[in-house]
Amino acid sequence: MRGVAAPGSPFAADLLEGKRILITGGGTGLGRGVARHLAVHGAQVHLWGRRRAVLAEAAAEAAAARPGRVDGAGPGPAAARWCPVGAPRGAGAAARRPPPAAARPGSVHFQSVDVRDFDQVDAAIEEIWSSYGPLTGVVNNAAANFIAQTETLSPRAFDAITRTVMNGTFHTTLAAGRRWIAEGLPGSVLSTLTTWVWTGSAYVVPSAMAKAAVHAMTMSLAVEWAGYGIRLNALAPGPIPTDYAWEMLNPTGRSSVGATQAEGVPAGRVGTIEELANLTMFLLSNACDYLTGQTIAMDGGQMLAGPGTFAGLASLSEDDWREARERSQSASAASKARRTV
Ligand SMILES: NC(=O)c1ccc[n+]([C@@H]2O[C@H](COP(=O)([O-])OP(=O)(O)OC[C@H]3O[C@@H](n4cnc5c(N)ncnc54)[C@H](OP(=O)(O)O)[C@@H]3O)[C@@H](O)[C@H]2O)c1
Repeated sequence: MRGVAAPGSPFAADLLEGKRILITGGGTGLGRGVARHLAVHGAQVHLWGRRRAVLAEAAAEAAAARPGRVDGAGPGPAAARWCPVGAPRGAGAAARRPPPAAARPGSVHFQSVDVRDFDQVDAAIEEIWSSYGPLTGVVNNAAANFIAQTETLSPRAFDAITRTVMNGTFHTTLAAGRRWIAEGLPGSVLSTLTTWVWTGSAYVVPSAMAKAAVHAMTMSLAVEWAGYGIRLNALAPGPIPTDYAWEMLNPTGRSSVGATQAEGVPAGRVGTIEELANLTMFLLSNACDYLTGQTIAMDGGQMLAGPGTFAGLASLSEDDWREARERSQSASAASKARRTV
């Protein structure tokens, strides 16, 4: 794998100040990594997932990442807040709740939410709105996936993946979108997809189907909601290793092929969370309000080097190329000799 220099942030330190951004699936992997960068750049960040302990850890890590942050209303240096949906609201909970003022830069909050359940999603969004204020952006990142021969899948397994990716993304987008429209507020929705939305992918068919549906949602709602100032875009990252997803997509030595591997990436390496975070921040900032309805691949050229291309020729030696050239030339000469005109 070729080394990569840390790209650093091309953005002002306060790029996202005043933004309040929800990341679904923010307790682990890419969501967790991106959350840190959003907090560092001044966004108030809300993390969702199903596991509270995992979320609490991710929230504390992200909140601690903002250098020199001042958070007058927070409980300490790491202003990660537990904000459990449906939990009893005692005096303690009320005391912990911050005033619904402007987003406090760099503070990070979390809620345990299953995105497959619209009622939970709507209640959690309502809680953010009433306790903190309106979101400015939603990152639909939660997903489930594993490799399998499609003929072995049960309808239940198909459901588990598609309901998380497709229904979950729609639920979150709908709950935030309705509120933005009702209150005349702009908003930005960014969904994390894969390049399978363009190519499909064997052995991860439910995920490919569900991600393609979210790609369709992105294009459709970009048009329908543009007049409300709501933008929808998506990112299709190439391989960026994360713990759990890698176990599910690359469970054995022999399954180390294709989508998770650096070898098939023309750039010669996997991507980094910093690169993903930079593009995410750009898309969630005010820098590109004219950009909507797009799914942007960030994959080191992996998709364009797919089986439909001649990308595999990269392994030919100079001698191989010489031989190929000679054969083509003699085939061309033979063909010319048979021409009558
Ligand atoms: N890593 C890559 O190379 C790569 C490449 C292309 C696209 N992506 C996309 O990037 C996103 C993140 O992937 P990752 O690699 O970071 O995987 P990951 O670590 O497995 O993250 C998935 C997250 O989704 C949450 N989640 C799953 N089901 C949920 C549900 N029903 N409700 C709420 N949250 C749920 C999980 O938390 P809980 O289990 O606690 O709920 C987990 O935090 C996914 O959309 C994936 O398709 C990743």
